Amino acid sequence: MIKFLDLKKQYLSIKDEIDLAIQNVINDTAFVGGKYVKEFENSFANYNNSKYSVGVGNGTDALEIALQSLDLPKDSEVIVSANSFIASAEAVSRVGLKVRFCDNNEYYNIDIEDLKKQINPNTSAIMAVHLYGQACQIDEILKIGKENNLKVIEDAAQAHGAEFNSKKVGNFGDIACFSFYPGKNLGAYGDAGAIMTNNSELAEKCRLIANHGSKEKYHHQIEGRNSRLDGINAAVLNVKLKKLDEWNKIRREIAQYYVENLKNIDEIILPKEIENVYSVYHLFVIRYKYRNKLIEHLKNDGVETGIHYPISLPKLEAYKYIKQECSYMRATNWDKELISLPMGEHLTIKECEYIVNSIKNYFKIK
Ligand SMILES: Cc1ncc(COP(=O)(O)O)c(C=O)c1O
Repeated sequence: MIKFLDLKKQYLSIKDEIDLAIQNVINDTAFVGGKYVKEFENSFANYNNSKYSVGVGNGTDALEIALQSLDLPKDSEVIVSANSFIASAEAVSRVGLKVRFCDNNEYYNIDIEDLKKQINPNTSAIMAVHLYGQACQIDEILKIGKENNLKVIEDAAQAHGAEFNSKKVGNFGDIACFSFYPGKNLGAYGDAGAIMTNNSELAEKCRLIANHGSKEKYHHQIEGRNSRLDGINAAVLNVKLKKLDEWNKIRREIAQYYVENLKNIDEIILPKEIENVYSVYHLFVIRYKYRNKLIEHLKNDGVETGIHYPISLPKLEAYKYIKQECSYMRATNWDKELISLPMGEHLTIKECEYIVNSIKNYFKIK
């Protein structure tokens, strides 16, 4: 069986370091907050060449807290890419704002032309998702944001280490959010997330919101919430952050191998990379009209696949209440064709060859 993701194999490759890191947290009883969390926040900010990083409970909380910190007018609209995980939109509604969907382009990120169309007097912000590990066209988005006086939140949950014009994502908008869900390029051993910003006021505000509105224990300045990165996850992330670049490089090599070997199959649409972008291929997503048949064929050959995402956000039952015409969007039509091939540093070259050959057999190509 070729796994879509193999966290056990990854753990075994770094077992000694991880076991020691976790044991140290227990020895120091540094369970919530403490030196391991500080160390990770500093290392993660340094890794991204960003000033501030605030550890939180998960990526969804990061988005909610970041949005709250921006103090956007109640009921104003935030534009969200129609092709994303629900959290990108969910966070908007959870903080009393309204979701407005925007189509995606052939890179599966915000389509600039549709973005311009969706902006209206009630728009207050843009949720710029860097989907599948590829940076969105953030320069254009920032330009449009500036022209229309809109805040820009980067959802970098799938893009740890990705770059745009040689600059790490998370440094472009007003504020950025990361998820360390276990299967991410940088994944914890449980739920975890971080907010990143170069704005000290926003960083402080996020930290306050995430910690019951208090800087000093029992001195609550505002009503906040409990969303903190815990010591054990921080310690795991400290170990794994050191591997991130190497693992991202392997992901890129696998992507290159897939592209090189599948490029002649006309029926398949391969992911495209924007020239000035360093994609970290959180996912390698292809499109094929008869998606389910190919998935079944790969399954019979022992290859796991995924779909990201089988139902685009505007078509979800959860968003039935939004009366926005989205049927023209690529995002709402392409969701029937998407397939994610196995991706990650766990794959061997032999396994990649096997996957490619299985796909070629399906298309009866020698
Ligand atoms: C694009 C995107 N945004 C936000 C999130 C939410 O992160 P979490 O699962 O850590 O809450 C995810 C996680 O899957 C994601 O893929």
